[in-house]
Amino acid sequence: MRKAKIALVGLGSWGSTQSLPAIAEAENLELVTWFDANPDIIEQYKSTIPVPPARSLEELLDNPVVEGVILIVPNHVHAPIAVQAAGRGKHVWVEKPIANTLTEADQMIRAAEEAGVVLQVGHSLRRAPGMRMIKKGIDEGKIGEVALIEAHQSHRGGWTLAPGVWRWYSEKCPGGPLNLLGIHQIDIFHYLAGPVDEVMAMTAKKFLQCETEEITEVIMRFKSGVLGQIGDTYVTPPKTLTAVYGTEGWFEFDFWQYKLTYYDIEGKPHVTQVQRVNLIADEFREFGECILTGKRPETGGPEGRAAVAVLEAALESARTGRSVKI
Ligand SMILES: NC(=O)c1ccc[n+]([C@@H]2O[C@H](COP(=O)([O-])OP(=O)(O)OC[C@H]3O[C@@H](n4cnc5c(N)ncnc54)[C@H](O)[C@@H]3O)[C@@H](O)[C@H]2O)c1
Repeated sequence: MRKAKIALVGLGSWGSTQSLPAIAEAENLELVTWFDANPDIIEQYKSTIPVPPARSLEELLDNPVVEGVILIVPNHVHAPIAVQAAGRGKHVWVEKPIANTLTEADQMIRAAEEAGVVLQVGHSLRRAPGMRMIKKGIDEGKIGEVALIEAHQSHRGGWTLAPGVWRWYSEKCPGGPLNLLGIHQIDIFHYLAGPVDEVMAMTAKKFLQCETEEITEVIMRFKSGVLGQIGDTYVTPPKTLTAVYGTEGWFEFDFWQYKLTYYDIEGKPHVTQVQRVNLIADEFREFGECILTGKRPETGGPEGRAAVAVLEAALESARTGRSVKI
């Protein structure tokens, strides 16, 4: 089997602990080079990664062997690097959110379209087996008609923030936990309930010194007429829970407990312990497939853009105190 030759850009916390091992697990990818803007990171990994680092981002992008790049860099540099990479004819895989703003997302989508390259966005959570089972259950009518979808996604990451870290600053990470965590649920909401029509939000700061929000609450009305709600904090212990309420039952999926509960029309719970899979390797495998076969990714530019549209609308609503149409 031919493998797609890819380069990894960004070996910070997520790039080194999750993305690098996931590339090794994706059997249709071959890592040929890598780069990080921090020379200390290059020093740290150059003896353990079996392929040499590039001396600069330009050298990596000019390397004719590289077919695609995997970008695990801060959100505010997603757009400039993705546009540059697409301009050099490289396929692009970028972590969520696609970018911090719709303007940047549109630049990335246009650059990929003009170059005829793949643009895939790392909205991994919809790939969780529990989430796939909810989607199948909804499509089969197991909970009747969907009426309401609710999610909570939080962890204590905010306590580790310090000046100098990109997540500290509103310009680099607008929305704080909504940008970093809630964006996963926004994508899941689109996957399970379709496009959003209108958004209202409140944000709060209470515990931390950082510029960004710490607590966010978003309510949305979907084009289908149903409602949704997402709560996020950057200060409470980890929880990732999605619940979809229908006219004849409901589903609750606890991501970290790998537990899917289906409640029937009497409200009686039926629990399934779901499989653990490496969602990142699964996404990277799809990236390889897209490069090798021309397949369109499940979460490409339009899906990434749709999630950022809700993020932007929520922040505008929190600022103005008014609901915002998408
Ligand atoms: N899917 C998930 O659940 C998940 C979880 C965590 C992080 N992420 C995403 O991963 C991305 C990276 O997050 P992180 O926590 O690893 O951040 P990080 O700050 O730990 O690492 C980012 C790395 O990018 C490097 N970098 C910055 N600018 C660069 C540039 N111009 N060229 C090359 N390298 C550059 C930095 O030196 C750093 O090593 C973000 O987009 C974040 O949203 C996704």
